[in-house]
Amino acid sequence: MRHSLHLLALLPVSLFLQTLHAAPVKFETEVLPFLEKKCVECHRAPYEKDGKTIKPKAGLRMDGAWAIKTGSENGAIFIAGKSGESPMFERVTLPEDDDDFMPPVGKADPLTPAEVDLLKRWIDEGADFGEWEGNLEGKPEEAAPAGKVATVSPTQQVYERLSKGLTAPEEKAWESITTSGGRVLRLSQTSPLLSVDFRLSAPETGDEAILSAKVVAPNIAHLDLSKTKATDAALILLADTPNLVRLDLSNTAIGDEGLKLLKGLKELRYLNLHGTAVTDAGLEHLRELTSLDSVYLWQSKVTEKGAEKLRTALPDARINSK
Ligand code: HEC
Repeated sequence: MRHSLHLLALLPVSLFLQTLHAAPVKFETEVLPFLEKKCVECHRAPYEKDGKTIKPKAGLRMDGAWAIKTGSENGAIFIAGKSGESPMFERVTLPEDDDDFMPPVGKADPLTPAEVDLLKRWIDEGADFGEWEGNLEGKPEEAAPAGKVATVSPTQQVYERLSKGLTAPEEKAWESITTSGGRVLRLSQTSPLLSVDFRLSAPETGDEAILSAKVVAPNIAHLDLSKTKATDAALILLADTPNLVRLDLSNTAIGDEGLKLLKGLKELRYLNLHGTAVTDAGLEHLRELTSLDSVYLWQSKVTEKGAEKLRTALPDARINSK
Protein backbone atom coordinates (compact mmCIF):
# COMPACT_ATOMS: atom_id res chain seq x y z
CA MET A 1 0.00 0.00 0.00
CA ARG A 2 2.67 2.36 1.07
CA HIS A 3 4.64 1.44 -2.01
CA SER A 4 1.85 2.27 -4.47
CA LEU A 5 1.15 5.60 -2.79
CA HIS A 6 4.77 6.45 -3.20
CA LEU A 7 4.65 5.72 -6.91
CA LEU A 8 1.54 7.80 -7.36
CA ALA A 9 3.19 10.73 -5.71
CA LEU A 10 6.10 10.51 -8.13
CA LEU A 11 3.99 10.20 -11.24
CA PRO A 12 3.22 13.85 -11.98
CA VAL A 13 6.86 14.82 -11.53
CA SER A 14 8.10 12.22 -13.98
CA LEU A 15 5.44 13.17 -16.51
CA PHE A 16 6.50 16.76 -16.19
CA LEU A 17 10.17 15.89 -16.68
CA GLN A 18 9.35 13.81 -19.69
CA THR A 19 7.69 16.72 -21.43
CA LEU A 20 10.71 18.89 -20.69
CA HIS A 21 13.27 16.45 -22.09
CA ALA A 22 12.37 14.17 -24.96
CA ALA A 23 13.81 10.69 -24.41
CA PRO A 24 17.47 10.47 -25.45
CA VAL A 25 18.05 9.24 -28.99
CA LYS A 26 18.81 5.52 -29.14
CA PHE A 27 21.61 4.83 -31.58
CA GLU A 28 20.74 1.31 -32.57
CA THR A 29 17.05 1.83 -33.30
CA GLU A 30 16.99 5.46 -34.38
CA VAL A 31 20.32 6.33 -36.00
CA LEU A 32 21.86 3.07 -37.20
CA PRO A 33 18.98 2.18 -39.58
CA PHE A 34 19.51 5.25 -41.75
CA LEU A 35 23.30 5.04 -41.60
CA GLU A 36 23.04 1.44 -42.79
CA LYS A 37 20.77 2.43 -45.59
CA LYS A 38 22.60 5.53 -46.74
CA CYS A 39 26.26 5.33 -45.65
CA VAL A 40 27.51 1.82 -44.88
CA GLU A 41 27.48 0.73 -48.52
CA CYS A 42 30.65 2.80 -49.09
CA HIS A 43 31.92 2.97 -45.53
CA ARG A 44 32.33 -0.64 -44.46
CA ALA A 45 34.99 -3.32 -43.93
CA PRO A 46 37.09 -4.16 -46.98
CA TYR A 47 35.60 -6.88 -49.17
CA GLU A 48 36.40 -8.61 -52.40
CA LYS A 49 34.59 -8.00 -55.64
CA ASP A 50 35.63 -9.34 -59.04
CA GLY A 51 39.00 -10.31 -57.60
CA LYS A 52 39.66 -6.82 -56.23
CA THR A 53 39.63 -5.65 -52.65
CA ILE A 54 37.17 -2.80 -52.16
CA LYS A 55 38.29 -0.57 -49.32
CA PRO A 56 36.09 1.74 -47.29
CA LYS A 57 35.93 5.26 -48.74
CA ALA A 58 38.29 7.69 -46.97
CA GLY A 59 39.32 4.75 -44.75
CA LEU A 60 36.09 5.34 -42.87
CA ARG A 61 34.05 2.38 -41.69
CA MET A 62 30.61 2.89 -40.24
CA ASP A 63 29.73 -0.77 -39.67
CA GLY A 64 30.93 -0.96 -36.06
CA ALA A 65 30.85 1.34 -33.05
CA TRP A 66 34.64 1.09 -32.59
CA ALA A 67 35.09 1.99 -36.29
CA ILE A 68 32.81 5.05 -36.15
CA LYS A 69 34.73 6.17 -33.05
CA THR A 70 38.04 5.59 -34.84
CA GLY A 71 36.99 7.81 -37.75
CA SER A 72 38.60 8.11 -41.17
CA GLU A 73 42.14 8.35 -42.47
CA ASN A 74 41.80 12.05 -41.61
CA GLY A 75 40.77 11.49 -38.02
CA ALA A 76 37.63 11.61 -35.92
CA ILE A 77 34.29 12.14 -37.67
CA PHE A 78 32.42 13.35 -34.61
CA ILE A 79 33.03 15.10 -31.33
CA ALA A 80 30.63 13.91 -28.66
CA GLY A 81 28.44 16.79 -27.54
CA LYS A 82 29.37 19.00 -30.49
CA SER A 83 27.45 18.32 -33.67
CA GLY A 84 28.62 21.68 -35.03
CA GLU A 85 32.24 20.49 -34.95
CA SER A 86 31.52 16.98 -36.22
CA PRO A 87 32.45 16.23 -39.87
CA MET A 88 29.87 13.45 -39.89
CA PHE A 89 27.13 16.00 -39.21
CA GLU A 90 28.60 18.73 -41.36
CA ARG A 91 28.81 16.44 -44.40
CA VAL A 92 25.09 15.64 -44.33
CA THR A 93 23.99 19.25 -43.83
CA LEU A 94 26.04 20.95 -46.57
CA PRO A 95 24.20 22.20 -49.65
CA GLU A 96 23.64 19.20 -51.91
CA ASP A 97 25.74 20.73 -54.70
CA ASP A 98 28.78 20.88 -52.43
CA ASP A 99 31.38 18.25 -53.44
CA ASP A 100 31.70 17.17 -49.84
CA PHE A 101 27.99 16.45 -49.37
CA MET A 102 27.24 12.94 -48.03
CA PRO A 103 25.94 10.64 -49.27
CA PRO A 104 27.29 11.63 -52.73
CA VAL A 105 24.39 12.91 -54.82
CA GLY A 106 22.77 10.18 -56.90
CA LYS A 107 24.45 7.34 -54.99
CA ALA A 108 22.08 7.15 -52.03
CA ASP A 109 19.16 9.23 -50.78
CA PRO A 110 20.11 12.27 -48.69
CA LEU A 111 19.13 12.18 -45.03
CA THR A 112 15.62 13.44 -44.38
CA PRO A 113 15.23 16.46 -42.06
CA ALA A 114 14.03 14.07 -39.33
CA GLU A 115 17.17 11.93 -39.74
CA VAL A 116 19.41 14.99 -39.68
CA ASP A 117 17.71 16.03 -36.46
CA LEU A 118 18.20 12.58 -34.88
CA LEU A 119 21.88 12.57 -35.83
CA LYS A 120 22.33 16.04 -34.37
CA ARG A 121 20.60 15.14 -31.12
CA TRP A 122 22.50 11.87 -30.84
CA ILE A 123 25.87 13.64 -31.16
CA ASP A 124 24.84 16.50 -28.86
CA GLU A 125 23.60 14.05 -26.24
CA GLY A 126 27.07 12.49 -26.08
CA ALA A 127 27.15 10.04 -29.02
CA ASP A 128 26.37 6.98 -26.95
CA PHE A 129 26.25 3.71 -28.92
CA GLY A 130 24.39 1.90 -26.14
CA GLU A 131 25.03 -1.80 -26.40
CA TRP A 132 25.54 -1.81 -30.14
CA GLU A 133 28.97 -3.02 -31.24
CA GLY A 134 28.40 -3.97 -34.86
CA ASN A 135 31.17 -5.61 -36.87
CA LEU A 136 34.21 -6.35 -34.71
CA GLU A 137 36.35 -7.66 -37.58
CA GLY A 138 39.47 -5.54 -37.95
CA LYS A 139 39.12 -3.90 -34.57
CA PRO A 140 42.63 -3.26 -33.21
CA GLU A 141 43.61 -5.12 -30.09
CA GLU A 142 43.00 -3.32 -26.84
CA ALA A 143 46.38 -2.25 -25.50
CA ALA A 144 47.63 -5.02 -23.23
CA PRO A 145 48.28 -4.04 -19.62
CA ALA A 146 52.00 -3.52 -18.96
CA GLY A 147 53.89 -6.78 -18.59
CA LYS A 148 51.23 -8.84 -20.31
CA VAL A 149 51.32 -10.19 -23.82
CA ALA A 150 48.55 -8.91 -26.06
CA THR A 151 45.97 -11.60 -26.69
CA VAL A 152 43.54 -12.11 -29.52
CA SER A 153 40.04 -10.86 -28.73
CA PRO A 154 37.47 -13.53 -27.81
CA THR A 155 35.54 -12.83 -31.01
CA GLN A 156 38.65 -13.32 -33.11
CA GLN A 157 39.38 -16.56 -31.29
CA VAL A 158 35.93 -17.82 -32.22
CA TYR A 159 36.46 -16.99 -35.90
CA GLU A 160 39.89 -18.62 -35.84
CA ARG A 161 38.52 -21.77 -34.30
CA LEU A 162 35.66 -21.94 -36.80
CA SER A 163 38.05 -21.40 -39.71
CA LYS A 164 40.03 -24.53 -38.93
CA GLY A 165 39.30 -27.29 -41.40
CA LEU A 166 37.32 -25.02 -43.73
CA THR A 167 38.61 -24.13 -47.17
CA ALA A 168 38.01 -20.67 -48.59
CA PRO A 169 35.68 -21.03 -51.57
CA GLU A 170 36.51 -19.32 -54.87
CA GLU A 171 34.27 -16.43 -55.83
CA LYS A 172 32.84 -18.60 -58.62
CA ALA A 173 31.35 -20.89 -56.01
CA TRP A 174 28.79 -18.32 -54.95
CA GLU A 175 27.73 -16.99 -58.34
CA SER A 176 24.24 -18.40 -57.83
CA ILE A 177 23.83 -16.28 -54.70
CA THR A 178 24.90 -13.13 -56.49
CA THR A 179 22.51 -13.80 -59.37
CA SER A 180 19.74 -14.27 -56.79
CA GLY A 181 20.39 -10.72 -55.54
CA GLY A 182 22.58 -11.69 -52.58
CA ARG A 183 25.97 -10.38 -51.64
CA VAL A 184 28.81 -12.50 -50.34
CA LEU A 185 31.82 -11.03 -48.57
CA ARG A 186 34.79 -12.72 -46.96
CA LEU A 187 35.15 -11.80 -43.29
CA SER A 188 38.75 -10.93 -44.09
CA GLN A 189 40.97 -11.36 -47.08
CA THR A 190 42.25 -14.75 -46.02
CA SER A 191 39.29 -16.03 -44.02
CA PRO A 192 37.26 -18.99 -45.28
CA LEU A 193 34.30 -17.54 -43.38
CA LEU A 194 31.70 -15.57 -45.29
CA SER A 195 29.08 -12.98 -44.70
CA VAL A 196 25.93 -13.25 -46.82
CA ASP A 197 23.29 -10.55 -47.06
CA PHE A 198 20.41 -9.56 -49.31
CA ARG A 199 20.29 -5.92 -48.34
CA LEU A 200 20.39 -4.53 -51.84
CA SER A 201 17.46 -6.60 -53.07
CA ALA A 202 15.73 -7.29 -49.76
CA PRO A 203 12.12 -6.33 -50.54
CA GLU A 204 12.07 -8.63 -53.60
CA THR A 205 13.99 -11.51 -52.05
CA GLY A 206 11.97 -14.65 -51.32
CA ASP A 207 12.76 -18.07 -49.89
CA GLU A 208 14.06 -19.48 -53.14
CA ALA A 209 16.65 -16.73 -53.56
CA ILE A 210 17.71 -17.15 -49.94
CA LEU A 211 18.13 -20.89 -50.33
CA SER A 212 20.69 -20.19 -53.07
CA ALA A 213 23.07 -19.56 -50.16
CA LYS A 214 23.19 -23.32 -49.65
CA VAL A 215 26.17 -23.59 -52.00
CA VAL A 216 28.49 -22.09 -49.38
CA ALA A 217 26.45 -22.86 -46.26
CA PRO A 218 29.25 -24.38 -44.11
CA ASN A 219 31.30 -21.20 -44.61
CA ILE A 220 28.60 -18.73 -43.62
CA ALA A 221 29.38 -16.95 -40.34
CA HIS A 222 27.10 -13.94 -40.83
CA LEU A 223 23.67 -14.13 -42.45
CA ASP A 224 21.50 -11.07 -42.92
CA LEU A 225 17.96 -11.72 -44.17
CA SER A 226 16.52 -8.51 -42.73
CA LYS A 227 13.61 -6.91 -44.62
CA THR A 228 13.42 -9.82 -47.10
CA LYS A 229 10.25 -11.77 -47.87
CA ALA A 230 11.74 -14.76 -46.01
CA THR A 231 9.22 -17.14 -44.48
CA ASP A 232 9.95 -19.87 -41.95
CA ALA A 233 10.64 -22.23 -44.86
CA ALA A 234 13.80 -20.27 -45.79
CA LEU A 235 15.37 -21.26 -42.50
CA ILE A 236 15.85 -24.85 -43.67
CA LEU A 237 19.12 -23.34 -44.85
CA LEU A 238 20.22 -23.26 -41.22
CA ALA A 239 20.47 -27.05 -41.10
CA ASP A 240 23.69 -26.62 -43.10
CA THR A 241 25.26 -23.60 -41.37
CA PRO A 242 26.99 -24.95 -38.25
CA ASN A 243 29.40 -21.99 -38.22
CA LEU A 244 26.80 -19.26 -38.09
CA VAL A 245 27.74 -16.57 -35.55
CA ARG A 246 25.37 -13.72 -36.49
CA LEU A 247 21.83 -14.05 -37.80
CA ASP A 248 19.66 -11.05 -38.64
CA LEU A 249 16.01 -11.88 -39.30
CA SER A 250 14.68 -8.45 -38.39
CA ASN A 251 11.61 -7.10 -40.16
CA THR A 252 10.65 -10.40 -41.77
CA ALA A 253 7.62 -12.69 -41.45
CA ILE A 254 9.71 -15.22 -39.49
CA GLY A 255 7.73 -16.76 -36.63
CA ASP A 256 7.85 -19.48 -34.01
CA GLU A 257 8.02 -22.36 -36.51
CA GLY A 258 11.13 -20.86 -38.04
CA LEU A 259 12.90 -20.63 -34.70
CA LYS A 260 12.69 -24.42 -34.35
CA LEU A 261 15.23 -24.56 -37.16
CA LEU A 262 17.80 -22.61 -35.13
CA LYS A 263 18.35 -25.47 -32.73
CA GLY A 264 21.60 -26.70 -34.26
CA LEU A 265 23.33 -23.30 -34.24
CA LYS A 266 25.83 -23.96 -31.49
CA GLU A 267 28.04 -20.99 -32.43
CA LEU A 268 25.32 -18.36 -32.69
CA ARG A 269 26.22 -15.19 -30.75
CA TYR A 270 23.89 -12.58 -32.24
CA LEU A 271 20.24 -13.03 -33.15
CA ASN A 272 18.05 -10.17 -34.33
CA LEU A 273 14.29 -10.83 -34.24
CA HIS A 274 13.25 -7.18 -34.21
CA GLY A 275 9.93 -6.69 -36.01
CA THR A 276 9.21 -10.40 -36.55
CA ALA A 277 6.10 -12.47 -35.75
CA VAL A 278 7.94 -14.42 -33.03
CA THR A 279 5.99 -14.99 -29.77
CA ASP A 280 6.90 -16.24 -26.30
CA ALA A 281 6.30 -19.82 -27.51
CA GLY A 282 8.99 -19.42 -30.16
CA LEU A 283 11.59 -18.33 -27.61
CA GLU A 284 11.36 -21.79 -26.09
CA HIS A 285 13.39 -23.03 -29.06
CA LEU A 286 16.28 -20.74 -28.13
CA ARG A 287 16.81 -22.00 -24.60
CA GLU A 288 19.62 -24.32 -25.59
CA LEU A 289 21.58 -21.82 -27.64
CA THR A 290 24.00 -21.07 -24.83
CA SER A 291 26.51 -19.27 -27.06
CA LEU A 292 24.07 -16.43 -27.62
CA ASP A 293 25.21 -13.12 -26.25
CA SER A 294 22.66 -10.76 -27.75
CA VAL A 295 19.08 -11.25 -28.80
CA TYR A 296 16.90 -8.40 -30.10
CA LEU A 297 13.14 -8.66 -29.66
CA TRP A 298 11.82 -5.13 -30.18
CA GLN A 299 8.50 -4.93 -31.97
CA SER A 300 8.08 -8.69 -32.08
CA LYS A 301 5.09 -10.42 -30.47
CA VAL A 302 7.16 -11.38 -27.43
CA THR A 303 5.85 -10.20 -24.04
CA GLU A 304 8.04 -8.92 -21.23
CA LYS A 305 7.23 -12.12 -19.38
CA GLY A 306 8.49 -14.23 -22.28
CA ALA A 307 11.68 -12.15 -22.50
CA GLU A 308 12.24 -12.59 -18.78
CA LYS A 309 11.91 -16.35 -19.10
CA LEU A 310 14.57 -16.39 -21.80
CA ARG A 311 16.83 -14.26 -19.58
CA THR A 312 16.57 -16.94 -16.92
CA ALA A 313 17.41 -19.70 -19.42
CA LEU A 314 20.33 -17.74 -20.92
CA PRO A 315 21.74 -15.69 -18.04
CA ASP A 316 24.88 -14.66 -19.95
CA ALA A 317 22.99 -13.22 -22.90
CA ARG A 318 21.63 -9.70 -23.30
CA ILE A 319 17.99 -10.09 -24.15
CA ASN A 320 16.91 -6.72 -25.54
CA SER A 321 13.15 -6.49 -25.40
CA LYS A 322 12.59 -2.73 -25.15
C1 HEC B 1 28.49 6.17 -52.75
C2 HEC B 1 29.50 6.10 -51.71
C3 HEC B 1 29.32 6.87 -50.43
C4 HEC B 1 28.22 6.91 -49.60
C5 HEC B 1 26.89 6.21 -49.79
C6 HEC B 1 28.59 7.72 -48.47
N1 HEC B 1 29.88 8.15 -48.61
FE1 HEC B 1 30.93 9.25 -47.26
N2 HEC B 1 32.52 9.30 -48.53
C7 HEC B 1 32.55 8.73 -49.79
C8 HEC B 1 33.80 9.09 -50.45
C9 HEC B 1 34.22 8.69 -51.85
C10 HEC B 1 34.52 9.88 -49.53
C11 HEC B 1 35.90 10.49 -49.73
C12 HEC B 1 35.82 11.69 -50.56
C13 HEC B 1 35.36 12.85 -49.76
O1 HEC B 1 36.00 13.15 -48.73
O2 HEC B 1 34.35 13.46 -50.14
C14 HEC B 1 33.67 10.00 -48.33
C15 HEC B 1 34.03 10.71 -47.20
C16 HEC B 1 33.22 10.84 -46.07
C17 HEC B 1 33.60 11.56 -44.89
C18 HEC B 1 34.89 12.30 -44.67
C19 HEC B 1 35.94 11.41 -44.11
C20 HEC B 1 37.24 12.16 -43.98
O3 HEC B 1 37.58 12.50 -42.84
O4 HEC B 1 37.85 12.42 -45.01
C21 HEC B 1 32.57 11.49 -44.00
C22 HEC B 1 32.49 12.05 -42.60
C23 HEC B 1 31.55 10.71 -44.66
N3 HEC B 1 31.98 10.32 -45.91
C24 HEC B 1 30.34 10.43 -44.08
C25 HEC B 1 29.30 9.80 -44.75
C26 HEC B 1 27.99 9.65 -44.20
C27 HEC B 1 27.53 10.14 -42.82
C28 HEC B 1 27.26 8.98 -45.13
C29 HEC B 1 25.79 8.64 -45.07
C30 HEC B 1 24.89 9.69 -44.76
C31 HEC B 1 28.13 8.71 -46.26
N4 HEC B 1 29.36 9.21 -45.99
C32 HEC B 1 27.75 8.01 -47.41
C33 HEC B 1 31.60 7.92 -50.35
C34 HEC B 1 30.34 7.69 -49.80
